[in-house]
Amino acid sequence: MTDRTAEHYESVAADYDEHWSYDPDYVRRFAGAITDALRLTSSDAIADVGCGTGLYTRHVAEAVRPTRPILCVDPVPAMLDRLPKLPGLQPLVARAEDLASGQVPLPGADTLDAIIMKESIHHVGDRRKTLEGLVGLLSRHGRILVVMLPRTIDHPLFREAHERFAQLQPETSEIVETLAAAGLRTSVSYRTFHTTIDRQRYVRLLEARYLSVLGEFSEDELRAGIAQFRHAYRDEPVLRFDEHFAFVKGWVAPG
Ligand SMILES: C[S@@+](CC[C@H](N)C(=O)[O-])C[C@H]1O[C@@H](n2cnc3c(N)ncnc32)[C@H](O)[C@@H]1O
Repeated sequence: MTDRTAEHYESVAADYDEHWSYDPDYVRRFAGAITDALRLTSSDAIADVGCGTGLYTRHVAEAVRPTRPILCVDPVPAMLDRLPKLPGLQPLVARAEDLASGQVPLPGADTLDAIIMKESIHHVGDRRKTLEGLVGLLSRHGRILVVMLPRTIDHPLFREAHERFAQLQPETSEIVETLAAAGLRTSVSYRTFHTTIDRQRYVRLLEARYLSVLGEFSEDELRAGIAQFRHAYRDEPVLRFDEHFAFVKGWVAPG
């Protein structure tokens, strides 16, 4: 994680949940898709790596009611500070890399049955080494789910933001191949989430740099990008767009 990424999440932490909860049903449906994809049960030892504020994790915990708290791992304390104080959620300040290397040991367990990584893989430095290390933490019925956007997205951003996003985002195929090389069976499915948002509200999200790619731009560049956005969508008071997420799953082969 770069200093710029850490600073970005420190500055968005306080408003993160509000930005992402513009459609209350969206978060719940998304958390349901994660729970289903991993077939989570109450006896699973679960970690959400790069959990942020736990916006999704709390819904997963509510649905699964795990007997052991979900380990909520994130390197940015300001994000973890927003995690609700619930018995089903246990915060841990660490990077994915620290868990993977054993530099930060798993508290209270030797292995994990399920690892969630939702929209955090693009922040991980050495993805191959880190994913291999995380796979090494899985139990014999362990599985991992990497949820990620493709390089090309439909969000109504300005041109430079789309270009920068494509440069920073890993290919889905890279993640599949890495998990397979680490010895897991793998599958990929795509889930589409429809978003409807008032244009003015979306401007506020852009101003607040709600996507980490927006943290890549200076104040002037962002202002110019928002002007570009306003012009492009001047006839659309309400924006509608689809988010196509890849759900990359890996699981330990029986036997
Ligand atoms: C886009 S947010 C996603 C948060 C949460 N999973 C969600 O979907 O709401 C990315 C998160 O990854 C975290 N992160 C950044 N670098 C990381 C790393 N090296 N290992 C684990 N998490 C990291 C950030 O602090 C941030 O909370």
